[in-house]
Amino acid sequence: MAAAIPPATVELECLIPRHAIARRVEELAGAIQRDYAGCGPVTMLVVLNGAMVFAADLMRLLDLPLAVDTLAAASYAGTRSTGELVFRAPPKLTVKGRNILLVDDILDSGFTLARLMEFLREAGAAAVKSCVLLDKTVARHPRGLKKADYTAFRIPDRFVVGYGLDADEAWRNLPDVMCIHPK
Ligand code: IMP
Ligand code: MG
Repeated sequence: MAAAIPPATVELECLIPRHAIARRVEELAGAIQRDYAGCGPVTMLVVLNGAMVFAADLMRLLDLPLAVDTLAAASYAGTRSTGELVFRAPPKLTVKGRNILLVDDILDSGFTLARLMEFLREAGAAAVKSCVLLDKTVARHPRGLKKADYTAFRIPDRFVVGYGLDADEAWRNLPDVMCIHPK
């Protein structure tokens, strides 16, 4: 798919460099490992596509009985929230009775994670916790999740790309988290 924002019309500025991400993901994995020790099997549910890079790094630092599954949902078109969540692919593994760790890229309005957690609880999950790479300091949606159980970084209210995050599918492959500035 072609990017809606042609890369030539914007400048990218590094917000969180790869070494800082790696260090923080290790800390987060340590906290998750301690909290889940002795809790039995855990299912890490990765919200595609944005969380795939973060989750890939995080899961390899977890020494837990871990199943990994994905789901696809979206509430954004370009750089704007549409305010409605579309499920593109539900989880494939059983949710019922499972300890779920939901991993997403960014908590913005909080609408996506609140809806997903509701969906997982309705599907009979034994417990659901949330883990995000980024938390934008913005006013949440009235029905949005206020805070994730695990957060790697708080960032200002800027649109960011890289380390899995995109703007209309561009820039997911950048190794750092970058801010977009229109030229
Ligand atoms: P929320 O429902 O407003 O919390 O939106 C969360 C989803 O919107 C994330 O999982 C991202 O896919 C997308 N999103 C929000 N802010 C950004 C951003 O700055 N860059 C890229 N995607 C974003
Ligand atoms: Mg997303």
